[in-house]
Amino acid sequence: MLKLENITKVFNRSTIDETVVFDNFSHEVKKGEVVSVIGSNGSGKTTILNLICGTMTPDSGKIIFDGEDITKLSEHKRAKRIGRVFQEPRMGTCSELTILENLALADNKNSRFGLRRLISKKRIDYYKELLKTCEMGLEDRLNTKVGTLSGGQRQALALVIANMTDIDLLILDEHTAALDPKSSEIIMNITEKFQREKGITTIMVTHNLKFALKYGNRLIMLHEGKPVLDLNEQEKENAVIDDILKKFNQISIEVGN
Ligand SMILES: Nc1ncnc2c1ncn2[C@@H]1O[C@H](COP(=O)(O)OP(=O)(O)OP(=O)(O)O)[C@@H](O)[C@H]1O
Ligand SMILES: [Mg+2]
Repeated sequence: MLKLENITKVFNRSTIDETVVFDNFSHEVKKGEVVSVIGSNGSGKTTILNLICGTMTPDSGKIIFDGEDITKLSEHKRAKRIGRVFQEPRMGTCSELTILENLALADNKNSRFGLRRLISKKRIDYYKELLKTCEMGLEDRLNTKVGTLSGGQRQALALVIANMTDIDLLILDEHTAALDPKSSEIIMNITEKFQREKGITTIMVTHNLKFALKYGNRLIMLHEGKPVLDLNEQEKENAVIDDILKKFNQISIEVGN
């Protein structure tokens, strides 16, 4: 469903700061796959997500999505089919608006009406149902300003929003990294619940090796823009955390982390 073909991405080309992140990188994600991506700092994880979402364009190569070449498609247009939850809880939702207003806005992504007209009484029950799946009591706080929620509550709302519209691909960009261990577990459980219900193709970047092994059906380790490990579901199940940790430490030491 997603093909990255011969992608090259270089930052600050021909300057002393030149960074070659990807050099002829190709990769395919199949429909329904849940791919965990781990890797050392600077290995290109965020860059690859930016390329997929259209935040950045590659210097050369193609991005094919469901058979369509989207390499030149704007980020805005891709957002109709690609949902993204960021590392920083503040990024996915608007602080000044209430939970209900945030949901209504996302629910009417393509509408030109003002916010007040977007809030439909009929949809409120649907929003409440969605929020209930998070088991955080957010369904009783529809009029709470999002800026006053905790990081975990906010990421749960961002997940609801990302899953609410009819997207085909979900991008999770270290979406538990800013949370404490307990909230991280809760957010991973919600992630999995949505995953089970909708079977949506997902790419999850994480620094948490335990999550990477526990969730999803494929594991990729990136190093200097190349996959140094690519395990399918069976291989992942048989993988020993110590072996992966050893490999991970090895590449991390190489880059001095
Ligand atoms: N906008 C940019 N301008 C210049 N260099 C950039 C830019 N974005 C990323 N880079 C460089 O590209 C390389 C890959 O960065 P990227 O953010 O993809 O790494 P990462 O794997 O997400 O790392 P981390 O685990 O630290 O988040 C790094 O060397 C980074 O400095
Ligand atoms: Mg990153």
